Amino acid sequence: MRLDKFVCKSTELTRMEAIQCIHSGEVFVNGEVATNEATQVHENNLVLLNGVKLKTRDFRYILMNKPAGTVCSNIDEVYPSLFNYLEVDKVSELHIAGRLDADTTGLVLITDDGRWSFNITLPTNDCRKIYRVKLSQAIPTELSQDLIAQFEKGLKLQGELGLTRPAKLEIITPKEVLLSITEGKFHQVKRMFSAVGNRVVGLHREQIGKVCLDLDVGQWRYLSKNEVESFNNN
Ligand code: URA
Repeated sequence: MRLDKFVCKSTELTRMEAIQCIHSGEVFVNGEVATNEATQVHENNLVLLNGVKLKTRDFRYILMNKPAGTVCSNIDEVYPSLFNYLEVDKVSELHIAGRLDADTTGLVLITDDGRWSFNITLPTNDCRKIYRVKLSQAIPTELSQDLIAQFEKGLKLQGELGLTRPAKLEIITPKEVLLSITEGKFHQVKRMFSAVGNRVVGLHREQIGKVCLDLDVGQWRYLSKNEVESFNNN
């Protein structure tokens, strides 16, 4: 990674402050002064700042129960950013593994480990996301099995060429279902129900992979080691 990023990830310095330290000759890499912030360094290089050895922070893995009316973005937009609820340093380094719409609630995974989030979002990794969906139209009992089969077979979404990947639909009541999907196209769940002539009026994500939501609205916690690792063996 770049030297300025390495310095940021191992101190409380901002990117600008890290660059200033590098330019003023305070940073040494493997015994030599390094004044170019773009210098590439590896975890096993000896990097000193004012004589103190730097070690990059461990990656962070966070679970949050997203409130309605927040956006999965690092900045406030029409709605406030979900990150306003997180009391951690360097929030700008974090991203969301599988964003939710502003009106969707529930389980969100947040990290600064890009490879890990790829395991979650890449459709071919088959990482299941389970949504509780409230519908405007009741599903007639006699059509339930047919609908389940349609979701399993794949649906043609408006504007898409192929079919959706096989999805598991479980009907809880005529107007409430659980939907399990392995991909996350833009407004995917809403568009899936639109494709079968229905409309989503409430959407809540309950589970991603083996990780279940166990927090109140707006709360967050770090994932356990087992939870983090569960996404490496999808
Ligand atoms: N599908 C949607 O339509 N919206 C979400 O927020 C998540 C999945």
